[in-house]
Amino acid sequence: MFAICRTRGDSATCKIVGAVGLLPVAYEAHFTPAVEIGWRIARSFWGLGYAPEAAAAAIRFGFERLQLPEIVANAGVANEKSMRVMAKLGMVRDPNDDFDHPLVPDGTRLRRQVLYRLTRSRWLAQSAPPGP
Ligand SMILES: CC(C)(COP(=O)(O)OP(=O)(O)OC[C@H]1O[C@@H](n2cnc3c(N)ncnc32)[C@H](O)[C@@H]1OP(=O)(O)O)[C@@H](O)C(=O)NCCC(=O)NCCS
Repeated sequence: MFAICRTRGDSATCKIVGAVGLLPVAYEAHFTPAVEIGWRIARSFWGLGYAPEAAAAAIRFGFERLQLPEIVANAGVANEKSMRVMAKLGMVRDPNDDFDHPLVPDGTRLRRQVLYRLTRSRWLAQSAPPGP
């Protein structure tokens, strides 16, 4: 969870911006076991790039410190904002990975999900400094 704080004199006022982090996928699917990255940003802070900025830091932690081989992310098929964030992070969608979320009731809007993946090797290639 992260917040933005403003100080005035001796006092500080903070607003919670949202939560971004890594967690083990808590259900069985064709891509599990896996570690996922998730995010939720308060509506008044949408469009300011906070989700991709915080997610990039979490991904760096996952690959550098935890040495994860892969990080995944999922969202409802209509959630274009989240898919934009995934794309900005260099995550890749294969439509063959789309799946029915086992914890979401059949026939409801969020049942069908897209899956984006980012392998450690892809992240390393993207993060490498430019050559001479
Ligand atoms: C998805 C979400 C995390 C994006 O976070 P963010 O910090 O706003 O990310 P960005 O600023 O990079 O915006 C991502 C995209 O969202 C869209 N977007 C952002 N703010 C928007 C707004 N106010 N209206 C319409 N679209 C908007 C844009 O397409 C943007 O892509 P662009 O920068 O290429 O134009 C945020 O919208 C959110 O928390 N949504 C609700 C919860 C959710 O969907 N969680 C994920 C469940 S899997």
